[in-house]
Amino acid sequence: MAKYLITGGSKLEGTIRVTGAKNSILPILAAALLTTKQVVINDCPSLADIEKVLGILRAVGCKVKREKRTLIIDPSTITTWVIPDEYVKQIRSSIIFLGAMIARAGKARVTYPGGCEIGQRPIDLHLYGLKRLGIKINDSHGYIECEASKMLGADIHLDYPSVGATENIILAATAAQGYTIIRNAAKEPEIKDLQDFINAIGGRVSGAGTSTIVVEGRKPKNGTEYTIIPDRIVAGTYLTAGAITGGDLLVENVVLDHIQPIIAKLRESGAIIKASGTSVRIIGRERPLPIYHTTTLPYPGFPTDMQAQLMSLLSVASGTSVLVETIFENRFKHVPELIRLGANIRTDGKTAVIQGVEKLIGTTVSSWDLRGGAALVLAGLRAEGETVVENIHHIDRGYECLEGNLRSVGAQIERLED
Ligand code: UD1
Repeated sequence: MAKYLITGGSKLEGTIRVTGAKNSILPILAAALLTTKQVVINDCPSLADIEKVLGILRAVGCKVKREKRTLIIDPSTITTWVIPDEYVKQIRSSIIFLGAMIARAGKARVTYPGGCEIGQRPIDLHLYGLKRLGIKINDSHGYIECEASKMLGADIHLDYPSVGATENIILAATAAQGYTIIRNAAKEPEIKDLQDFINAIGGRVSGAGTSTIVVEGRKPKNGTEYTIIPDRIVAGTYLTAGAITGGDLLVENVVLDHIQPIIAKLRESGAIIKASGTSVRIIGRERPLPIYHTTTLPYPGFPTDMQAQLMSLLSVASGTSVLVETIFENRFKHVPELIRLGANIRTDGKTAVIQGVEKLIGTTVSSWDLRGGAALVLAGLRAEGETVVENIHHIDRGYECLEGNLRSVGAQIERLED
């Protein structure tokens, strides 16, 4: 298993460019199935999760080519409506293929995705929405099989603004007759990106970014060339790297609006932030200020995908901070690892109380999930001496060449392959 060896203490200085958002690319790749014409998708980093989704497209009969960060997909022929188990087990978000495949083929089958490192992750809202469109769902023996001879637009109210459920329903509803209204929809920027892609291939979706989305049933028939929005979580992670090392970092290719919830917290921690156009400069303090209270919430609240990285920053703050995780029930696995590095953190259910310490000391820690792993790298950049971060395959799921980017701005970090 690969690991990182980090020698902490360098202040990061320079420029890092952010690439396309993983959480946009995954549903947009599924949406490529809606059309039969070629789609070209720009700014797709090489990430383990994306390669797995490309594997699904190939397995169902699409032709897929990668030219650097551009993906060329020919979805004209598909040979099956069954999403292979091996991929669904490896990448939970492949559940999104349910909506896309049913829209394309009228049938779909996936194995039950099950829980993962950060929680149980039920899919009841996905299935509820699909059923409301008239899709028959047979959920037995660990498989979900869907069939729709005729889908009819529906008025669907989600109990919770689930990102994946909103996307799945949008995808399926493109093939329903009439209008579908999704109320209490997720408002994440990646949903708007999916809407824009579907409209670019000839669909008609509106309202993404608000809590009411309307899908006019109309099969997309066109090809397109499309550029993915920048990854707000990757941007936030690099900005936090600037903050935790007391560095002076310019992060390029960001949509400022998308990262406002993150910027607000970094400012509270005393970092100086200067935003201009699509770039953000961060100048970190020698020692961050504590942040009285942060709660993770659906967008535009503070993202759960930045909770662990913020916790690393707060672990060296000059006082006590409170972080509450409301989205996933099992998202504090980085806490014992941060404690190994010398952090003083106590958790009780959804709440973590972080008493900032003057310094972290390098040791061997293990990543348990994607963002928790990134948080440990940030802590290692600050810690005295050497930190080894094990199990970095989790980090590879969402960060393209994290070590190369960090090295380019002065970090001492090496990837060791066992
Ligand atoms: C997406 C993101 C993930 C991010 C999360 C929250 C992708 C590929 N992943 O995940 O990085 O952390 O949004 O911003 O885009 N829930 C149910 N029933 C359902 C669906 C969800 O109870 O049918 C619950 C989940 O267990 C969780 C909460 O709703 O507690 C949020 O989940 P959801 O918004 O669906 O997240 P994902 O789409 O899985």
